[in-house]
Amino acid sequence: MSLKDRLLDKNQIFNPEQEKEIITAVKDKVKNDKDFLNPFSLNRAEYKDKLFMLINSEIYRRFPLLEFEVSQDFLEYAISEIFGLGVLEKYLSDKKVTDIFIQDREMLVISNGEKKYLGEVFGSIDEVLLIIDRIKASSGKTVDQRMPFLNTELYDGSRCSIVIPPVSDRIYISIRVFNCLDFELQDLLELGMFNNGIFSVLKGLIQDKKNILIAGSMGSGKTTLLNTLAKLIPKSEIINIIQDLPEIKLGSHPYVRMLTTRPKSREADNDISQDRLVYETLRMKADRIIVGEVRDCMAAYQMLQALNTGHRGSFSTIHSDSAYDGLLRLEMLAMEYKSNLSSSVVKKIVSRAIDTVLFLECEKDENLNIKNRKISEIVLVDKHLNEAGDYKLSCL
Ligand SMILES: Nc1ncnc2c1ncn2[C@@H]1O[C@H](COP(=O)(O)OP(=O)(O)O)[C@@H](O)[C@H]1O
Ligand SMILES: [Mg+2]
Repeated sequence: MSLKDRLLDKNQIFNPEQEKEIITAVKDKVKNDKDFLNPFSLNRAEYKDKLFMLINSEIYRRFPLLEFEVSQDFLEYAISEIFGLGVLEKYLSDKKVTDIFIQDREMLVISNGEKKYLGEVFGSIDEVLLIIDRIKASSGKTVDQRMPFLNTELYDGSRCSIVIPPVSDRIYISIRVFNCLDFELQDLLELGMFNNGIFSVLKGLIQDKKNILIAGSMGSGKTTLLNTLAKLIPKSEIINIIQDLPEIKLGSHPYVRMLTTRPKSREADNDISQDRLVYETLRMKADRIIVGEVRDCMAAYQMLQALNTGHRGSFSTIHSDSAYDGLLRLEMLAMEYKSNLSSSVVKKIVSRAIDTVLFLECEKDENLNIKNRKISEIVLVDKHLNEAGDYKLSCL
């Protein structure tokens, strides 16, 4: 083994006591670092890069004469020690894993769309409770007998929901892994979501500042696609992102303002609604508005108004069964809010606001696991309605 290899191997270089000291020192730095405290600021790869630098500088401070670079093993070990999710870390950083489910001592993950039962990975319930304690500590929220539910996000943006007995028969921790949403458009091309021709079309839509509605069923990849498209927005533009959970992250983009809705809870006695955030966004004069998923009728109406008054290149997702259905859903939401408007008026507003609808379709296997996600329709919406007073659509 060469000297370099030996130095890269954490077991060869520090004794456990020294390892502990290095990690404790880095932990202290992390506690006071604004990037680590702010859940919106970094994605997992950036967290890792930053941690890598902190660990290296701490080692250099202690052992200035040592020529040393932190190995991936040591980094993974430090991450699990610092953020404290132990056995979960491995799955949080695996790009193929989309969901992690814990039920008492057992664990199940969904990897590449397939469920994998991992058996009893925890030695005792105390280990599971320790993980819950760490999630509570990092989120500043509680879960106890009085409020046996906790919905929060982990340090890397993964969504986590916890339910504990006696409401449930066992402890259930469900995690939707954030890492899996963090694709580039090129990755989606390679995964077969679209072909090369559509790849160029999508880039063109962003360049031409088209207003895009991404439609599809739950889990069809709407948010993932939206996130990758948003990464193509020129760095000079100011983007406001409105969402319920900070799923969309644009990492290195300099002008991103993240606004997140908030339900009423024990920690906050008033809720912050989607329409309120759209309203605030209009005053903040962003170049582009991204609404993670339109589901609120007042927000839908306000967003349509915003798109008709000069906000170009904005996008959003909507739950629907086809591209046309996506437009109808948007229309229905707006009408729910402004019931005095006729359908033909709302159709006019929608047709002016939305330029393109991308519809995502997914194939499922016999166990209802999603096997394949594809853009199955790219529909251009004409500014004018047809003679029958309906949308004039053309498919690409
Ligand atoms: N093209 C793809 N290939 C494989 N997995 C994908 C693809 N697009 C999305 N996913 C995965 O599917 C899951 C659901 O995606 P998401 O974008 O949250 O769906 P939606 O917003 O439609 O509910 C995510 O875990 C994501 O990683
Ligand atoms: Mg979504």
